[in-house]
Amino acid sequence: MEMPGIVLGVNVDHVATLRQARGGTEPDPLMGATLAILGGADGITIHLREDRRHINDRDLKLMRELVSGVELNLEMAPVKEMVKIALSVKPEMCTLVPEKRRELTTEGGVDVKGEFKSLSEAVKKLNGGGIGVSLFIDPDKGSMEWAAKTGAQMVELHTGYYANAGQRDRQKELERVRAAISLAGSAGLLVNAGHGLNYSNVQPVAALPGLRGLYIGHSIVARAVLSGMKEAVSQMKALILEARG
Ligand code: PXP
Repeated sequence: MEMPGIVLGVNVDHVATLRQARGGTEPDPLMGATLAILGGADGITIHLREDRRHINDRDLKLMRELVSGVELNLEMAPVKEMVKIALSVKPEMCTLVPEKRRELTTEGGVDVKGEFKSLSEAVKKLNGGGIGVSLFIDPDKGSMEWAAKTGAQMVELHTGYYANAGQRDRQKELERVRAAISLAGSAGLLVNAGHGLNYSNVQPVAALPGLRGLYIGHSIVARAVLSGMKEAVSQMKALILEARG
């Protein structure tokens, strides 16, 4: 899908994480996605995990109905169950990520060389269904070369190393991302970046030439919770005071 400038894909998984804290219906990630689109999101990302820890099958189905005009990006493990679901839901793109059951978040890029066979099979099936595929990889040469061989159209460079680096290593990690963008270009891949980006560290990455898109979740949901707090409390207070006459 052609997009002007740089794509901002907003990951709304953590709206669902908050919902799951009570096992009820709110906050609804669909509402989160609607508001994100109104705010200018160029895409919505959800990660349907094998353990359904936050986003569930209903969310994905309804999200597909809701999200049109911007890209729906389904993050998933490269396993048969998920490929089958993706082929029936048909998001614009799938990002293949590694999944270990107990991790707090996606901790590293996919081991493209080690999982070459399963990744290539998943790419082929998804492409066959008209779905573009991105591989979430560490920003290094080896991962890039293997990623290109899978037939994927895109990669998403893991910016967690940059985001977590201390002051001393931050620039070095940024240069690693810059070099990986140029390698991706030479390999004929479109290149995205994401993970750990927040309001204080996003700009140096956003300024890197050659980037197609940025995928950001946690910091946006965290900011949304806090920036909405004042209004939420004042609405509750008004109701309570009204009831007391
Ligand atoms: N990209 C990928 C592949 C991810 O797994 C995640 C986390 O779900 C993100 C981007 C967004 O990372 P964050 O929540 O740290 O912004």
